[in-house]
Amino acid sequence: MADIQFSTMAKSLYRSEIRELLKLTRQPDTISFGGGLPDPAIFPYQAVEEASLKVIRERGRLALQYSPTEGEPFLKKQLIDYMERQGENVTATNMVVVASSQQGLDLLAKIFIDPGDPIIVEKPTYIGAIQAFRAFRADFHGVELDFDGIVPEELEKTVIRLLEAGRKPKFVYLIPDFQNPSGITLSYERRVRVLEIASQYDLIIIEDTPYRELRFQGESLPSLFSMDKEERVIMMKTFSKIFSPGFRIGWIMGPGSVIDKLVMAKQGTDLCTSAYISFLAAFLLEARQVDRQVVLSRGLYKVKRSVMLAALERFMPSDESISWSKPEGGMFLWLKLPDYIDTLELLKEAVEKNVAFVIGKGFFTDGSGGNTIRLNYSFPTEKQIVEGIERIAQLVSKRLRVPVMQ
Ligand SMILES: Cc1ncc(COP(=O)(O)O)c(C=O)c1O
Repeated sequence: MADIQFSTMAKSLYRSEIRELLKLTRQPDTISFGGGLPDPAIFPYQAVEEASLKVIRERGRLALQYSPTEGEPFLKKQLIDYMERQGENVTATNMVVVASSQQGLDLLAKIFIDPGDPIIVEKPTYIGAIQAFRAFRADFHGVELDFDGIVPEELEKTVIRLLEAGRKPKFVYLIPDFQNPSGITLSYERRVRVLEIASQYDLIIIEDTPYRELRFQGESLPSLFSMDKEERVIMMKTFSKIFSPGFRIGWIMGPGSVIDKLVMAKQGTDLCTSAYISFLAAFLLEARQVDRQVVLSRGLYKVKRSVMLAALERFMPSDESISWSKPEGGMFLWLKLPDYIDTLELLKEAVEKNVAFVIGKGFFTDGSGGNTIRLNYSFPTEKQIVEGIERIAQLVSKRLRVPVMQ
């Protein structure tokens, strides 16, 4: 066997717990609250079949070819129109199509992060972003979240602390809408404040918004991207949660200089996003199938969220140190258990009972969060939600310490 010498980056790579868990979701007898998967029952199979034929019949010569790195122009046009319907103003030079947001995160890391560079993230934050940024050896600074999103005072303190040490953060990475993992949304007042802080300290914000359209309760809030008057917000979007993750289509919008660098970085990664899938996505956008899918998903996930909340109310033991978020959209709910419950141990028992969830710890960059769990409600059926929550609640009850009466 050869003496294989990996790079420093390769040595720091690790497997994502979520992706490992996704394997479980393919086992028919396991109830999975694990991945952030759309419900396959509502995938628009027929519309995709019809659009696939259209791609080959009408655009075959281009669809089976390489396409421009910045994105197939026909798709970009459809994406710009779609974003306009979402209230966002974008031009072709301010957008690059990527092979979904995960590639976007990797490319953003590639163009912004030198080893040891400080970056600011929410605490907790998306595990895949941690994975992407860690590969480039970012120095993470987590800022507390409460039920209204990132706490601006804490954000400002972190920025000041870093600036005083002569270390300007490369960017602030935020998931303002129905955050992964917590399901929490950044309030309007805080959006204003976050942008003020960014302006005051000259910071770049990466706004990752895969769940934004999936609001099923309450009022829609403007994106940071639309509120930004200083070209300091980079917005990331993906087909994955609003249509299908199988497409691997995403798009990044931001200042021309950033888009330019992303295009150069992407050339070294994959030359271009699949032209065939780009045309398919474009036809589906043109026919408003994506808009339709969003409406359908919202309705279904609202019901499933309510079923999960009701099951938690019914089965979870009442204890003041047990709480959960009440998302107004998206796919996730965040469960906090007493500090002394290690959710990794709980997961091992749960898997034996054929239930899977994601332990919260992986979403923290400082090793905390050992008592937290992310629960996905979009993928399991309503019946599975009730059964799965009952099983988890039983395991929690067993571990609960009964307060000693004095
Ligand atoms: C916040 C966030 N960003 C990015 C992604 C990656 O999505 P994709 O690569 O499927 O577009 C996810 C997926 O769960 C996510 O929740």
